[in-house]
Amino acid sequence: MKQSIEKGFITPQPVFIIATYDENGEADAMNAAWAGQIGGNHLSISLSPHKTTENLKAIGEFTVSFATAEQVAACDYVGIVSKNKVPDKLEKCGFTVTKSDKINAPVIDQLPVAIECKVIELQEEFNETRVVAEIVGMKADEEVLTDGKVDLSKVRPIMFDSSLLCYREIGDNLGGAWDAGKKFM
Ligand SMILES: Cc1cc2nc3c(=O)[nH]c(=O)nc-3n(C[C@H](O)[C@H](O)[C@H](O)COP(=O)(O)O)c2cc1C
Repeated sequence: MKQSIEKGFITPQPVFIIATYDENGEADAMNAAWAGQIGGNHLSISLSPHKTTENLKAIGEFTVSFATAEQVAACDYVGIVSKNKVPDKLEKCGFTVTKSDKINAPVIDQLPVAIECKVIELQEEFNETRVVAEIVGMKADEEVLTDGKVDLSKVRPIMFDSSLLCYREIGDNLGGAWDAGKKFM
């Protein structure tokens, strides 16, 4: 029998590592799980006040890297510590960056896939800033490509489990989308 649970949540939640520059060109990164894709070319992220939030408002461009099983500790660290308090937070967890050739934002070298985004709207709602952004490009290391496509079995992205407050690796390919269901046709 189903029981009522006190608080509802959705799953899977992503683990996005948002990387920005501030007005002095200093790179920062933070972990964001309250985020998702809107249609084919846009995404939204729900942000509290952070150094990253200030950077996004000032610069308007950022990258989103997919957190990976290999870098789980570093990805968690950037979600615990603020650059406002620890200016060398990226160096401390072993992250280095390369500036995107498309936008004014850093790409984290240790994470294999990043999307490049431009802010198109900032909505103040529910005591949060909802950033709506356009995806303008994507970078992926050659090692995680199969036939020119990003191969998630090579990336090993992780998700945030907001029930048990932990990270989980995203699992196996269970069948084709728009295809597995055809057996009932
Ligand atoms: C698993 C996890 C998910 C998080 N998701 C969000 C989020 O979606 N929005 C947000 O504002 N902060 C989120 N945070 C908190 C920020 O990542 C954190 O406050 C970070 O230290 C901000 O860094 P900054 O001040 O250098 O920008 C999350 C933290 C963790 C560990």
